[in-house]
Amino acid sequence: MTGGLAHRGVQAARDLRIGARRGPGNAAVRWSLHVVGALFAAVPIAFAAGPVEFSAGEIARIASLGPWPPPPRRDPSNRVSGHPDAIELGRRLFFDSRLSPVGYIACVTCHQPDRGWTDHKPRAHGLGDLDRNTQPLNNVGLQRWFGWGGASDSVWMASLRPILDPREMDSNAAHVRHVYVRMPEYACLYRLAYGADPVTGGETDEAVLVRTAKALASFTETLTTGRTAFDAARDAIARGGSIAATGYPAAAQRGLQFFVGEGRCIACHSGPDFSDGRFHDTGVPEFPGQRTPDAGRQDGIRNLRSSRFTLHGPYNDDPSGRDAAAARDIEPEEAARGRFRTPSLRNVAVTGPYLHNGGLDSLRDAVRHPAPDDGAVPRGAAAPAALGTEPQGTAADDVVAFLQTLTDARGEDRGLPAPRPTPCDDDAAAVR
Ligand code: HEC
Ligand code: HEC
Repeated sequence: MTGGLAHRGVQAARDLRIGARRGPGNAAVRWSLHVVGALFAAVPIAFAAGPVEFSAGEIARIASLGPWPPPPRRDPSNRVSGHPDAIELGRRLFFDSRLSPVGYIACVTCHQPDRGWTDHKPRAHGLGDLDRNTQPLNNVGLQRWFGWGGASDSVWMASLRPILDPREMDSNAAHVRHVYVRMPEYACLYRLAYGADPVTGGETDEAVLVRTAKALASFTETLTTGRTAFDAARDAIARGGSIAATGYPAAAQRGLQFFVGEGRCIACHSGPDFSDGRFHDTGVPEFPGQRTPDAGRQDGIRNLRSSRFTLHGPYNDDPSGRDAAAARDIEPEEAARGRFRTPSLRNVAVTGPYLHNGGLDSLRDAVRHPAPDDGAVPRGAAAPAALGTEPQGTAADDVVAFLQTLTDARGEDRGLPAPRPTPCDDDAAAVR
């Protein structure tokens, strides 16, 4: 990150704070947290220059951040999850702007493989402006709720949303069905995946749309990150070995100790994916010029209660209905206002700008999100006790050094995944 970018980040943070004070409806939006600052002020934070000694408790917490990669998971609500032909159909559709009636917006417009599956913009732009930052799709299958506010309860529901959203692809079920008329190899892959023809098979347009989203989801679920320098260090320490022997940088060791210790980052950025999958209010203010405050999980819950595409609707393929039953377990709507899902921190160094509204450019600023220096208690019931200490000065540099070790070898540039040849390619050749 260049000094210029870091500077812009600081400036953006200042602008945001000014915006938060001036903006209407922002009474509840405040940076935190003198309260916690006072709690931790008594604890001296000393960073010795020598090798870092980890306590037994710290070692146990570090071990809980792995192992990586986790075992592959299938989504029972999506019968083509893990199906090779569905994955191939999803892969081709993901890069194909024919899905949008205007013909120039595809999933890849915003989720770009050479930008960590995001777009490096503060906020997404499709056919119109969105108020949220594009989420990197890495390891998405490990989550339970999708979108910053958890408006979807499956990866396929989250894949359906951008197709229909007028600000993203502004498509519709009839248009999606017509894509199969134009693209016989897609229709062929669909037949291999579902055993029915998308054009002549007698399904409703909506059913074809949902199955298209499920194919997209089966592809998206394959976007996992590889092992990192941190994973090697974590495995060594979990086995009782020496972290230093793995060549893990000293600054990253100090940052890791802060992360699992005083910083209490691990209270929310927990588990092998560095996300508890839950929603928290960390007091992130609206950005200047934002017209309506982002209600976060509150809007998410409203959407889950009204949409026919949730696990409670007619399109859940899981006969046991287990996940649907679990998805009923949603928190009261009022308490959810202004809460956002804890983002994973894998590959975070290459997926800025940061936060749900892209309000911070630099990772150095983003690591200080939970307890910025502006006073006030966060809104809602986000217990101040759950929030940790803001890393200051060299501690912030150390935390950044630690987060940089969470980037995998192809983090920044994954290139375009190669098409997998299928029997359907002959169909396409026959037509052309
Ligand atoms: C205009 C930019 C844009 C386009 C086009 C777009 N997305 Fe997204 N995507 C986003 C944004 C922004 C979010 C966060 C949405 C939210 O929080 O409401 C997101 C979130 C997601 C998520 C949830 C990720 C998570 O971690 O919960 C999935 C899955 C996803 N997109 C898949 C897709 C697929 C599949 C397509 C193509 C059909 C697509 N997206 C097209 C911008 C875009
Ligand atoms: C109370 C739970 C909680 C704690 C504690 C916490 N975080 Fe977060 N973190 C979040 C949430 C929620 C977001 C997203 C906030 C938003 O966008 O509104 C986030 C966002 C981030 C981001 C930006 C990621 C991105 O992709 O935009 C970074 C980096 C980060 N946290 C690092 C840390 C560090 C370092 C600590 C400890 C000093 C920490 N967090 C402590 C919940 C937490």
